[in-house]
Amino acid sequence: MSESTVKETKTGEFVAEVDTSCARAPVGLLAELTHRCPLQCPYCSNPVDLERANTELSTEDWKRVMREAGQLGILQIHLSGGEPTARRDLEDIVEEAARSGLYTNLITAGVLLKRERLEKLRDLGLDHVQLSIQDVDPENADRIAAYKGGMDKKNDVARWVKELDMPLTINAPLHRQNIDNLPAIIDYSVKVGAGRLEVAHIQYYAWALKNRAALMPTREAFMKTAEIVNEAKERLKGILVIDFVVPDYYAKYPKPCMGGWGRGIINVTPSGKVLPCHAAESLPGLEFDNVRDRALADIWLNGQAFEKYRGTDWMKEPCRSCPRKEIDFGGCRCQAFALTGDAANTDPACSLSPLHEEWAAKATEESHTTDIPEFIYRRMGAAATAATE
Ligand code: SF4
Ligand code: FES
Repeated sequence: MSESTVKETKTGEFVAEVDTSCARAPVGLLAELTHRCPLQCPYCSNPVDLERANTELSTEDWKRVMREAGQLGILQIHLSGGEPTARRDLEDIVEEAARSGLYTNLITAGVLLKRERLEKLRDLGLDHVQLSIQDVDPENADRIAAYKGGMDKKNDVARWVKELDMPLTINAPLHRQNIDNLPAIIDYSVKVGAGRLEVAHIQYYAWALKNRAALMPTREAFMKTAEIVNEAKERLKGILVIDFVVPDYYAKYPKPCMGGWGRGIINVTPSGKVLPCHAAESLPGLEFDNVRDRALADIWLNGQAFEKYRGTDWMKEPCRSCPRKEIDFGGCRCQAFALTGDAANTDPACSLSPLHEEWAAKATEESHTTDIPEFIYRRMGAAATAATE
């Protein structure tokens, strides 16, 4: 338990008195404002059981979350979804976030945005736009998102962001069905004036796990992307920063998922559940507090779900005695559970996991299949229907 306390003010707000010397304030908060989204990407990081609109937090709830985040010492707020611009009160939330001293990043597919709205958001304090693209080939992009005409709209948004003098990041999830276009994706990012490009190989949980065989690139194709990115990083120094997220399945050691459980990131779902990671609801035995009835700081510092896999005490072998345990924190708990049935097991992405070989062989086999399955698109109820079929 931490030494910090949480007090209720005269106006009924919860204020955390955080002992900053304990260096445990999170860096970022991912605010999933809604799970509504006009796109249906088959690798969406939202849970397979999407939250319905009628369960979403109110404007006042989200504004309180922003204030509590500022008081807790959080630096960045990532306004995400679903599609965050589907919330009509996004302006109110952005304004409150900026007023609370948070750096505000809008993570958007862009297709619902209008220039006037973007300008208003900027004027209210929006600091940064992260625009996701499915591909640069418009037809393929439409197919992947199950949405027609998305690319034209994204081109408009990218242009407006630059006209409004805001920083722009392009986020390009990469998989076997768009991987050949990586050079064009890099060119596109330069052309639209992005300062940063995230080339993010898909991470296989939630929807992506259901679509793994349709998305998994071969090891050879992955290696090629690493070469392309390295070359582009050199060539575009001072023009474009490229972040490269490698697919777990081809790594020797896993990534420190979420930067380590309960170490730097908080996720708040549309209905107000506070999670240590966006996929945490897939794990059994966790109790998720809600911002409607417990202060954000208290949840972060003392919540059962945050404490469960925080630090290294929960680890089993081989992680427990591994010199990398404070580097990658045993990888991803959600992936460990999905693939081994125990979230405290070593993530099979790690070459030291006893299950690694078997698991990597499965990925390799899927990546070479010529009989590529149809996408299971991200829709309310789609995963259950597919499972029945
Ligand atoms: Fe990381 Fe555990 Fe693998 Fe060591 S054994 S590298 S701590 S996942
Ligand atoms: Fe949950 Fe990695 S996705 S810990």
